[in-house]
Parts: sequence; C-alpha cells; structure tokens
Amino acid sequence: MSCVVIYCRSGFESDAAAEITFHAAEQGFAGYVKAKPNTGYVVYECFEAHHSDEIIKKVDFKNMVFARQWFAGKLVENMPVEDRVSAVVDAAKEFTLCSELRVETPDTNEGKELLTFCKKISTPLKKALEKKNIVLREPKVNRPVMHTLFLTNNTAYVGYSYSFNNSAYFMGILRLRMPSDGPSRSTLKLDEAFNVFIPEQQRETRAAPGMRGVDLGACPGGWTYQLVRRGMFVSAIDNGPMNDDLMETGQVKHFRADGFKYRPEKRNIDWLVCDMVEKPTKVTNLMIDWAVNAYAKEFIFNLKLPMKKRFDSVYECLTMIKEQLAKYGVSYELQAKHLYHDREEITVHLNVTKVPQNLYS
Ligand SMILES: C[S@@+](CC[C@H](N)C(=O)[O-])C[C@H]1O[C@@H](n2cnc3c(N)ncnc32)[C@H](O)[C@@H]1O
Repeated sequence: MSCVVIYCRSGFESDAAAEITFHAAEQGFAGYVKAKPNTGYVVYECFEAHHSDEIIKKVDFKNMVFARQWFAGKLVENMPVEDRVSAVVDAAKEFTLCSELRVETPDTNEGKELLTFCKKISTPLKKALEKKNIVLREPKVNRPVMHTLFLTNNTAYVGYSYSFNNSAYFMGILRLRMPSDGPSRSTLKLDEAFNVFIPEQQRETRAAPGMRGVDLGACPGGWTYQLVRRGMFVSAIDNGPMNDDLMETGQVKHFRADGFKYRPEKRNIDWLVCDMVEKPTKVTNLMIDWAVNAYAKEFIFNLKLPMKKRFDSVYECLTMIKEQLAKYGVSYELQAKHLYHDREEITVHLNVTKVPQNLYS
C-alpha cells in the first residue's frame, strides 16, 4: 500500500490535500499529494509504502475536517474489462481479513455514472474475495473495511480502512431524507451533525426531550425544527419570520434580537446552535464567549468558508477555540466536519464538559 486515498466534496481537493499533508507531517510522515480540481478525491503518496497503513491508524480521522472517507491503498490500472474481478482480488491478496466490501466512486457527475457498474460488480467481487479469505461472508464489527474506488471502468484504487478510524458510511456520505414538514433544506445539516458527532448510543440522552436549546440565526426554522423534533424547548433568535407550524408546537419562543448580543437569562442551555452567515472568526469568538461563560453545554455551529484559503481559515478558528478554552481551563471535546449537506461552510461540534466556576460566578 503506497498511498492514502481521501474522498472529499468536489471542489475542495486543495483543502483536503493541505489537511492530509498537515496531519501526516504532524505524525512524522513525509509524502506528496496528487490532487486534481473537481475530482472529489486526493491521493497522498507516501515516500515509504508502509506509512500509509500507519497514517490511517495514527492520524485521528475525527480531526480530518475535509475528508469524508479515507483508506490505505494502491492504484490498479488497465484492468482487463472482461475480468476486473480477478484484477481487484489480485491487488487485495495481502490485505488482512476485512469484514465488508464497499465498491465506491468519487462523488462527482462522472462518478455517479459509474455507480450502476459498481453495484453490478459488487456481488461477484465479494464472492471472489470471500473465496480467497480477503473479505468475510458476514460483516463483523472491528474488522477493516475493504474499499474499491472506481475512477473509470478499468481503473480503481483498492485498499482498506480501519473501522475504528474511518467513516461508517458508504462513500463517506450519510444520506438523509428531507422531512416533508421541514421549514428549509438546511434542516438536513443539523440532522446530519447530530448523527455524525454524537455516538448512536448517546443520542437519546444527549439530545433529549425537555432540554433547552438556543438557535442563533434561526429563520425560517430548519435547525429549530431538529431541536423541536427531539422534544426540546427552543429560543429562536432572528429578525426574520419563523415557520408558523413550528411556532404552533408551543416549544419555540421567537426573539427578534441580534444573535451576537443575545445571552440567556440563566446558564441552563443544553444546546446552542448557530447558523448565522458571518465571518468565521466572529462566530468563533461568539462561541468561545458562550463556552467560557458556561451559558451552554453543547454547541453545533456553522463556519462559513472564505473563497480562498479555506483550510487556513478553518484551522485558524479551531486553534482559536483550543487556545482560548485552554487559557480559561475549560474542558471540552471538539470536532469539525465538512458535512455532506454543507456547501461553502463546515460544521463544528463543541461539547463543554467542565468550566471553572470562578470564571462566571
Ligand atoms: C442561513 S440562515 C439560517 C437558516 C436556518 N438555520 C434554517 O435552517 O432555517 C441565516 C439566518 O441568520 C440570520 N442572521 C444573520 N445575522 C444575524 C444576527 N446578527 N442576529 C440574528 N440573526 C442573524 C438571518 O436573518 C438568517 O435568517
């Protein structure tokens, strides 16, 4: 395995490239990136072949903002069209036993055209891999996942990822259905964020009925809808109009106020969510203020990306949060992701686990 293959949203290849270079270097690995605009993936070529396996173990996938998925792999070119199965099996013969096979493509228009073929080849390929003891018949947790990323009908990257450090989803994409009564499409962003950032077994207790939420920049109410759906009581802050059906639930209070000035009367907010379109550093400073003053426990917010240097902008904001919270002795968990439903923005989750009381009392 000589490279790490990374899936990203089409158009964000340079950000994904900068990110893997940064994290690989931080762990002491060297290599170079091959990336073409609008292809939906980048390839990090390691100077030493075995480093690709170490990178996908040692770099925490949760710290990769622009990567939807990754795997350690190699390129298989010029597969004979009459027998692509054997070419892939041959490339995978040294893999440790995998529990699952995902035959994927980059998330681009060209990639979508290959998906029918990917579905078609999946069954014969899986059978052939089972026969050679490369993939298990029944999926098992904690075993590696085998990936075959078809770029054309006879070229693919073939490799594996570790289930403890990858995306659980096919092509790294969580597809969600738009609720028929959802006030705006951006409701899917918050739904995806809850699914991606909160482990399944904790979702019902961490986002639970009766909790209190604040939604900054709430109108028309797509994000508020997700909090209401989970049984929360929400203060929706925005000068615009809120969706009538949401207001009729009795779970929402609408405040026509400036989201940068609004603060709750009590420090008892379970969830602060924020989708205001503003400079990322300005939103970041607001979130830091809410965190160090213990106004809210958990946060999900969007950072709108600039046209250029998106990677730099994201890492600047994440560093600001880390430095400020460390300075004030706040304990927290932080994760950020360019979600499938995000476009020119990323979504950040901050879970404040402890704030020294002297900071705010
Ligand atoms: C992208 S929209 C939010 C969409 C919403 N999350 C949804 O799902 O329906 C951004 C909203 O932020 C509001 N906004 C922008 N600046 C604001 C501010 N300083 N205070 C309050 N709201 C603000 C805008 O009025 C707008 O409704």
